[in-house]
Amino acid sequence: MELDDAIAKRTSVRYFSDEPVSEEVIRELIGAAIRAPTASGLENWIFAVFMSEEKRRALYDLIAKGMMEYYRAVNLPEDKMEKLRRRMYGEGMYRAPVYVAVFIDRRVRFLKGKEFDELEFIWSVESAAMAIQNLMLKAVELGLGTVYIGVTNFRGIEEKVRELAGLDGNYYLVGVIPVGRPKGEVRPSRRRRGVGDVMKLL
Ligand SMILES: Cc1cc2nc3c(=O)[nH]c(=O)nc-3n(C[C@H](O)[C@H](O)[C@H](O)COP(=O)(O)O)c2cc1C
Repeated sequence: MELDDAIAKRTSVRYFSDEPVSEEVIRELIGAAIRAPTASGLENWIFAVFMSEEKRRALYDLIAKGMMEYYRAVNLPEDKMEKLRRRMYGEGMYRAPVYVAVFIDRRVRFLKGKEFDELEFIWSVESAAMAIQNLMLKAVELGLGTVYIGVTNFRGIEEKVRELAGLDGNYYLVGVIPVGRPKGEVRPSRRRRGVGDVMKLL
């Protein structure tokens, strides 16, 4: 697949078929992910792959909790919250055959001074985000769908995802990526702002 095609087709997929995704395919995705740029060459990322029914169910509950919290924070009316609950628990939104949770190891850093704490953290998160984008584009090439889940970073949820992944407080969750064969037609979402709106020529 041409890169242009993969970029154009990538869009957030939130409903997946039950078709399993093999460990081999996940290795391919992570192989693409780790080709991403990584600040100071640290490669301080880790990809926790949730494949077992038990782990996936536990993670799913945390995703659902995060989504409810997200919409509560913007005071979504109760009937809309109910609709969302139905979509998740009734229609299986975000249920995927595999989830990849991407973490960074905060202990691994290049600049050691306290004054670089924040910068080192940001660089690590940025590196992991670039890896996630590679993973997502590779998934498109393999006919798979993904979505970036950020709501699992809410306080009280992030720690639980980390525990589920068997990692301690040295690790920080960058994002959870459900992966699976898309259910139904995939239509890339439109952009509100075009190149002319976001480009500043100097
Ligand atoms: C950092 C980040 C966090 C996100 N968190 C969520 C999330 O928690 N739940 C969700 O459904 N989508 C989430 N998204 C997906 C965005 O909603 C989506 O990318 C955006 O609406 C544009 O749509 P597209 O991905 O289809 O182009 C997240 C995306 C990013 C980059």
